[in-house]
Amino acid sequence: MSGGFDLVIRGGTVATASDTFLADVGIRDGRIVQIGERLTEGREEIDATGRFVLPGGIDSHVHLSQPSGEGIVMADDFESGTRSALFGGNTCVLPFCLQEKGQSLREALTAYHALAQGNCYTDHSFHMIVSDPTASVLGQELPALVVDGYTSFKVFMTYEGLRLNDAQILETMDVARRTGALVMVHCENEDAIRYLIGRHEAEGDVAPSAHATTRPIVVEREATHRALSLAEVVDVPVVIVHVSNGPAIDEIRAARARGRKVIGETCPQYLMLTADDLDGMDWEGAKFVCSPPPRDTASQDACWNGLETGVFDLFSSDHCPFRYDDPAGKLNPKGKTSFRHIPNGIPGVETRLPILFSEGVMKRRIDLSRFVALTATNHAKVYGLERKGRIAVGMDADIAIWDPTERRTIRHADLHDGADYSPYEGLEVQGWPTTVVLGGKVMVRDGALVGAKGDGRYRSRSAPAI
Ligand code: URP
Ligand code: ZN
Ligand code: ZN
Repeated sequence: MSGGFDLVIRGGTVATASDTFLADVGIRDGRIVQIGERLTEGREEIDATGRFVLPGGIDSHVHLSQPSGEGIVMADDFESGTRSALFGGNTCVLPFCLQEKGQSLREALTAYHALAQGNCYTDHSFHMIVSDPTASVLGQELPALVVDGYTSFKVFMTYEGLRLNDAQILETMDVARRTGALVMVHCENEDAIRYLIGRHEAEGDVAPSAHATTRPIVVEREATHRALSLAEVVDVPVVIVHVSNGPAIDEIRAARARGRKVIGETCPQYLMLTADDLDGMDWEGAKFVCSPPPRDTASQDACWNGLETGVFDLFSSDHCPFRYDDPAGKLNPKGKTSFRHIPNGIPGVETRLPILFSEGVMKRRIDLSRFVALTATNHAKVYGLERKGRIAVGMDADIAIWDPTERRTIRHADLHDGADYSPYEGLEVQGWPTTVVLGGKVMVRDGALVGAKGDGRYRSRSAPAI
């Protein structure tokens, strides 16, 4: 009997968050319609013998086209950012939609949709960043947006102009409690950071390395403890994003032991970089300035342990790209006078999956199913992308086909983002997603782009399944 498949991916090793098995995957009308042995011929065929057939990555923490301060321009817009994501094996990204002070959430969303519409190589959805939680934002706008499918929002405990105080965080969490949405928290204590910045600058210590010393583990640990406590007061689940170290992980473990629902997220920079990288020659350390900052080898070990033991549900990039050698980037005129003015964030949407595959799966720290859970399945569950993140009948045919034998040295020249460097330059990895399928359409075939800008579409989301 003919399956009437548009596409059959044949003979690969399919992995889900629970199993790994040899199978053909039959695709019709953009969905997976059959998984089994010896499927009938499709109109199009991909031979995946010797390859891994995995759900396309979902990167639920990226920043694209985000306003980043006067004179500073983010290196990626939706076109370059999603192209880079696609080449790194992703089929869906969740960028943030930043509410600027005084702005309505709708206004911010309209602007972001206009930037994304017709320009994306991957599917996408938005988390809101709530920076101005007025009575109308909390009382009307945010609840209405949750109903419309914007079911998660981030709040900051750091960055002047963005951070909320505890009362505002409680109020925002209360919206989540009433609507079933999910709050993501950036945990660093701004007042403590300001105090340390003042001390460092008074001593003339203004080099990029001071970014790490003015944001020590204790300021992240304290804020993590506070965010978890506030969520406990309100009685809501919470996502602790970009966790960088053992003491913060211990806070998550302790909250879970008290019965709290906590989603933990970490990122490649906390596995692969340390504060020593910020010590680079001259101002080169600016390339690694992100918040929380990379720590030390003990913190790296703690983050690996968190990935292995289930403290972390999410492995995201926190792709937040700025060009290095650029007056609108890391080396902006003020940035060259003090670490305080170096824009925070590093690129990584294209290297997230190859790094975890190579350092995690190939080095046997995690198995393939855990890789799938951490990079796709859990993101879809946590953020309400019902038809994504799994290879199963009925799901969107978003698939990355990996060659586990391919060895590459990461070079920015080979990547597809709008930055001018990679923090992982020179890192050798084994395994790369060579073919990527989005909604049944081949977008990257054997390393070459065949899909078009605009093939990626906006996806509304349901309430988190946690
Ligand atoms: O340094 C970082 N991570 N910048 C991105 C903004 C954020 O806090 O996620
Ligand atoms: Zn953050
Ligand atoms: Zn971020």
